Amino acid sequence: MSALDPRTIDGVRQKADIFELVSERVVLRKTGKDFRGQCPFHQGKSLSFSVNTTNNFYKCFSCGVGGDSINFLMRIDQCSYTDAVLTLARRYNIPVMAQEPAQRAEFTRQLAQEQQILEVLQQAALFYRHSLDTPTGQTAQEYLKRRGITSETQAQFQIGYAPPGWNALVTHLLDRKRYPAPIVEAAGLIRARQGGGGYYDYFRNRLMLPIADGRGRVVGFGARALGEEQPKYLNSPETEFFEKSKLLYGLDRARNAIAKQDLAIVVEGYFDVISLHQWGVTHAVAALGTALGEYQVKQLLRLSPRVVLNFDADQAGEKAAERAVEYFKQLGNLGIQPRVLHIPEGKDPDEYLQTHGADRYLD
Ligand code: UTP
Ligand code: MN
Repeated sequence: MSALDPRTIDGVRQKADIFELVSERVVLRKTGKDFRGQCPFHQGKSLSFSVNTTNNFYKCFSCGVGGDSINFLMRIDQCSYTDAVLTLARRYNIPVMAQEPAQRAEFTRQLAQEQQILEVLQQAALFYRHSLDTPTGQTAQEYLKRRGITSETQAQFQIGYAPPGWNALVTHLLDRKRYPAPIVEAAGLIRARQGGGGYYDYFRNRLMLPIADGRGRVVGFGARALGEEQPKYLNSPETEFFEKSKLLYGLDRARNAIAKQDLAIVVEGYFDVISLHQWGVTHAVAALGTALGEYQVKQLLRLSPRVVLNFDADQAGEKAAERAVEYFKQLGNLGIQPRVLHIPEGKDPDEYLQTHGADRYLD
């Protein structure tokens, strides 16, 4: 017996899409009416794992496991029935109702907190965006101009500026907008001062690049120094929503183009993505300064079997590409086509485009 109300469980059963859920963990290919892939629950390379989208269940013809979305999540995450239902309810916006009033209150509190964190991140992105248009934002504007980023591109990528000083965002979000400090802190935007005297801004005097999740919600920031300060990029701390190994910069904007052209380009840097999009190459994404990992590869392969890796023409870039290609190979015989594109002259894609343009790049 679950502590959850049957209406919540039914809602989850109806809304949770088995294909969407499985394809985040397993590379699936359409075969006839079903989708097939390698079973994540036993070793073996055959495509014995099938997903039936008509009746919303999965089944492995080799090891025999099978069930609905809730069952899949329980098995793959090794969690309880209640936890699986709760995860899905959150994800698909299904109201969580519990039999017990105390539990009901706790569910509601958790959900409200998550929504507030996302709201705060969105508000911060707006604040940074506006700050670019103020007198203090002048140096950041000049920086963007020097890098040839047009104002349309700046608007598209919601590029902003974090003012210098220690409390521009604290003042805006805590004093003016009255968000609770623990929420803004949990969003990774402010830190508590040592000794308990209030809070200070995490990002200061940097160009702000909002990073969205696959659903287009701002979950964190990459923040570039305007000069030679270190680090060159300061990223949001890892939070519940900001897991670097699971995000791809630009995926929210590139998703449709990747699916349409059946091709994804993976580059190393934020500005490589921004430049490529500005040049009309809108199927480009980047990992967030970490090697391309399993989760990210699977996310891309859900959209297209063709993936071109275009890492920097240095030793680190070559190494990262080799590792990623190995990983693609391990996924077996699914018609995946990884390719590695080498750019001459030790340049990154951004620099290459500045000198040669997009037509030569795409050749
Ligand atoms: P690069 O050092 O190649 O930077 O790092 P870049 O993208 O060419 O930077 P620009 O053109 O000088 O602005 C590649 C990626 O590694 C991550 C960032 O995601 C960056 O885009 N990185 C790099 C960090 O997270 N922190 C750093 O300090 C440096
Ligand atoms: Mn660069």
